[in-house]
Amino acid sequence: MAKGIISWIDRRFPLTAIIKHELTEYPTPRNLSYWWNFGFLAGFVLVLQILTGIFLAMHYKPDASMAFDSLQTIMRDVNYGWLLRYLHSTGASAFFIVIYVHMARTLYYGSYRAPRELLWWTGQVLLLSIMASAFMGYLLPWGQMSYWGAGVITNLFGATPFIGEAVVLWLRGDFAVGDATLTRFFALHYLFPFLVAGMVVIHLVSLHTVKSSNPSGINLEDKDNIPFHPYYTSKDGFGLGVYLIIFCWFVFFAPNTFIEAVNNNPANPLVTPPHIVPEWYFLPFYAILRSIPDLLGGVVAMVMSLLLFAVLPFADRSTIPGGARYRPIYRVTFFLFIADIFVLGYLGAQAPTGYVVPMGQVATFLYFATFFILPIVSKREDKWLRARLPQELLAQFDRTNALAKGQNKGDAP
Ligand code: HEM
Repeated sequence: MAKGIISWIDRRFPLTAIIKHELTEYPTPRNLSYWWNFGFLAGFVLVLQILTGIFLAMHYKPDASMAFDSLQTIMRDVNYGWLLRYLHSTGASAFFIVIYVHMARTLYYGSYRAPRELLWWTGQVLLLSIMASAFMGYLLPWGQMSYWGAGVITNLFGATPFIGEAVVLWLRGDFAVGDATLTRFFALHYLFPFLVAGMVVIHLVSLHTVKSSNPSGINLEDKDNIPFHPYYTSKDGFGLGVYLIIFCWFVFFAPNTFIEAVNNNPANPLVTPPHIVPEWYFLPFYAILRSIPDLLGGVVAMVMSLLLFAVLPFADRSTIPGGARYRPIYRVTFFLFIADIFVLGYLGAQAPTGYVVPMGQVATFLYFATFFILPIVSKREDKWLRARLPQELLAQFDRTNALAKGQNKGDAP
């Protein structure tokens, strides 16, 4: 009967052909490591966030006088409401961990290089959209940190020359964060994940056009590819199992790890918390913001710290594929950059007194310096490596680069 239904559909819509072409028989390099599991995991977390979010919204009240209490009702009175809430709040942090690892993998292996520039840029749009959605979602519990965090961040837009004040008013829907802000943040927080899902489709169409890179950095021949199913469905399934063990441990045993304790107090416009901090995943960017003494300068630096990733496909002038795999200087730069982000994250969580501000300024300088030295360093490293690496390997690199250029001109991948 199932066969009959499928062939009925196939005569009207190429369902089997699409599944075969894009999933089961989709040609995949045979040497992908577990670092290539994180794209699939990101998709899984997105679906889980959407599902738990929809069920939470059935009980949540986006009204400043009821929001906090409705969350207490969800936690205490709704059947498995606590589970829905903890899956969603832990899921938000898990999403950022998965996405940051996914991005770090891309950086390490230089997967942003041609022909994957569009893939990289659509990924960046995804990151910014997820950040926006997470920021708006954080207001919804209407706790102390939700309220004051939203106040601080929306205030930043006031630094925009000429129209700053109007933009802040437009964002908040009122002169201060209040009921109007909560209602519009709820509407947008509900909308954004669906936009993200649409953007993921574009991300994947782009991936399937240029195909996955692999840890060797060298374009493999057709005979070295294997069908996605059963090889990578099982590998992704195993990765998902490991992920779920860790994720569920947090959900069931330490669900408040990623929730700021002060946010368990209802929002109070008359009592400012002693130390306002954003969620952990924004901390490095918050530290960059604070390290510039001028507000407008800080906002520009913070925005640039995210947008600058877009220039990587051009800034990296090396002709050696595989990123850090073959490039020692790039490898050291990569690990220093990651360490710098951790330092910024730590500083972002501290009160801006004593050593925190000057240290943040040094870390911010190093962060931006990495982007600016990359064109020079990558060019020099390329020359140095080309004089030392074996000719057969260089020939493989040149073949891979030629193929990437061909793809850019629209040749068949
Ligand atoms: C909802 C968020 C995202 C989802 C669901 C997603 C999904 C995926 C999937 C399934 C893959 C193929 C498997 C893999 O290589 O891991 C992939 C590859 C890739 N993604 Fe994402 N992604 C997301 C966000 C991002 C972000 C934020 C970036 C970077 C800014 C990014 C950049 C890339 C790149 C460059 C590749 C190709 C990697 C390669 O072939 O080496 N993605 N993505």
